[in-house]
Amino acid sequence: MCGIVGYVGKKEAYPIIIKGLQRLEYRGYDSAGVALLNGSLNVYKKKGKVSDLIDYVEGKCLDGNIGIGHTRWATHGAPNDINSHPHVSSSKNLAIIHNGIIENYASIKSWLLSKGHEFESDTDTEVLIHLIEEIQNEGNFSLDEAVRLALTKVVGAYAIVVMDKNNPEKLVAARKASPLVVGIGNDEFFLASDATPIVEYTNKVVYLNDNEIAVVSLGEGLKIMDIDKDVVTPFIQEIDIKIEMLEKGGYDYFMLKEIFEQDSTIEDCMRGRLNVDEGWIKLSGVREYMNRILKANRIIFVACGTSWHSALIAEYLIEELARIPVEVEYASEFRYRNPILSENDVVIAISQSGETADTLAALELAKERGALIYGICNVVGSSIARLTDAGSYIHAGPEIGVASTKAFTGQLTLLYMMALMIANEKGTISRGKFRELLTELGQISSKVKKALACEKHVAYIAEEIKDSQNALYLGRGYNFPVALEGALKLKEISYIHAEGYPAAEMKHGPIALIDENMPIIVIATNKSAYEKIVSNVQEVKARKGKVIAIVIEGDEEIKALADFTIEVPSTLEPFSPLISVIPLQLLSYHIAVMRGCNVDQPRNLAKSVTVE
Ligand code: G6P
Repeated sequence: MCGIVGYVGKKEAYPIIIKGLQRLEYRGYDSAGVALLNGSLNVYKKKGKVSDLIDYVEGKCLDGNIGIGHTRWATHGAPNDINSHPHVSSSKNLAIIHNGIIENYASIKSWLLSKGHEFESDTDTEVLIHLIEEIQNEGNFSLDEAVRLALTKVVGAYAIVVMDKNNPEKLVAARKASPLVVGIGNDEFFLASDATPIVEYTNKVVYLNDNEIAVVSLGEGLKIMDIDKDVVTPFIQEIDIKIEMLEKGGYDYFMLKEIFEQDSTIEDCMRGRLNVDEGWIKLSGVREYMNRILKANRIIFVACGTSWHSALIAEYLIEELARIPVEVEYASEFRYRNPILSENDVVIAISQSGETADTLAALELAKERGALIYGICNVVGSSIARLTDAGSYIHAGPEIGVASTKAFTGQLTLLYMMALMIANEKGTISRGKFRELLTELGQISSKVKKALACEKHVAYIAEEIKDSQNALYLGRGYNFPVALEGALKLKEISYIHAEGYPAAEMKHGPIALIDENMPIIVIATNKSAYEKIVSNVQEVKARKGKVIAIVIEGDEEIKALADFTIEVPSTLEPFSPLISVIPLQLLSYHIAVMRGCNVDQPRNLAKSVTVE
């Protein structure tokens, strides 16, 4: 939530910052602002998207080789011009951008009010910049020291960058529980919430850790200290993100591009980790902790949103193949309910961003209680990836559309490899079964590609149901979580109310909603429960519901009953979610576009949820 960018160097700061904000807009898009230093401090901020800010600053002074910028997802204070960042101090010498929440801002604010400070906005962030200035003035401290001392008084989460008119070649940044990356160029430095605003200029980055403060200045380079003032040696890493990955590449929306990338992102996830000819799967994190995993009492998955749906599929999979009890928890519930945990448990977090606040906190709790903690993330170097004992990246490349698509199928691919590897080691499946599943997984990307060819037909169906108020998604077994995911995709980007249900549960409530206006999307690709799904379709048709069925190529029985069918290639049942989710992603996409919605930036949502 909220994206932040800073630059200090010899180039003009504004173009770098604005481009960076566009790259980070997935993190929040209700208002945006920049502050530029060029003798005077110029602050421009505007409610709306980064494009509104660009229009607003036209003709204004944008000079300066140092600056900061922010794109906001509101927490404290409504999204309006005044509450937008950057915020400035009383003297108007200091400016700050902030991602996170200062929980004790109210008490700090009353103390500052008693000292005569006046506030313009309703934000917690403005309080922090006033506090920094108050400390700076009281003790005649340097900017670095004033920031450090102020942060010792703050409770909450933050990634901040502070700029000072009296230190025109220096930026001070700090992080606690919100991501912050420092980019190191030639006599120039970049600060950003993730590496995407930086990759164009340098591939050398330092990921700040919690409670670290980075000071970048043209004279003295990069210095890092912790909140106790101990010097930290920067760990410089080289990142490998290509610019094409951050652009739409001819597609109207990132979401569509990401949907169509899935056959190759699935392959990328398996590359070097799975060999069908030689019959092996290798995930180094799993290999390293195999003994502990095999002895585990339980595997507990913690996740949110789409990642939670991946975890539900993993539950079916690991219990069926590896015979280890699995629990799946919403990270936000798990962390607050005093769960029973021990060193015999394995807690696996699934998170595209690797930054989701609740998932991170759930892992911290599990770590405290001695469980092995494992991360399945997409964003390299993210907080979850760094906190965990071990983990595996899904290597899907940057996912920019707020609605997750390729990360979901990447997570599943990784979970399939993990489950097969454990089952093979444990001997809970025969060598023949392992080979059969491995071979199918090895060719699954070609089936995903084939499934993507249904787009035109799906767009035609979308036209038929785009004006619905509600929709119901039904699935059984491995496809029940896919029903949940299909419903989530529809509601998040098209604002149609949708619910996912296990097909048989329909009789216990949702059936009351069915009438001729209600589209019911039935995932009917399971071979094992086929007859039962046929009965469910009959039940819906008996109540005049409009059935859209996802079926296996050549299916005749359901085709005869349903209003519309979408055919997808057949696969082994555990892998069916990888295929059946494709038409559901495309259906939501086309409905949303037809309804005139901004698919990549749906209202009220953000891609990286770094607040509770
Ligand atoms: C947000 C996103 C979802 C995502 C969820 C969990 O709600 O909009 O697409 O599934 O967060 O995010 P994570 O990065 O932890 O997978």
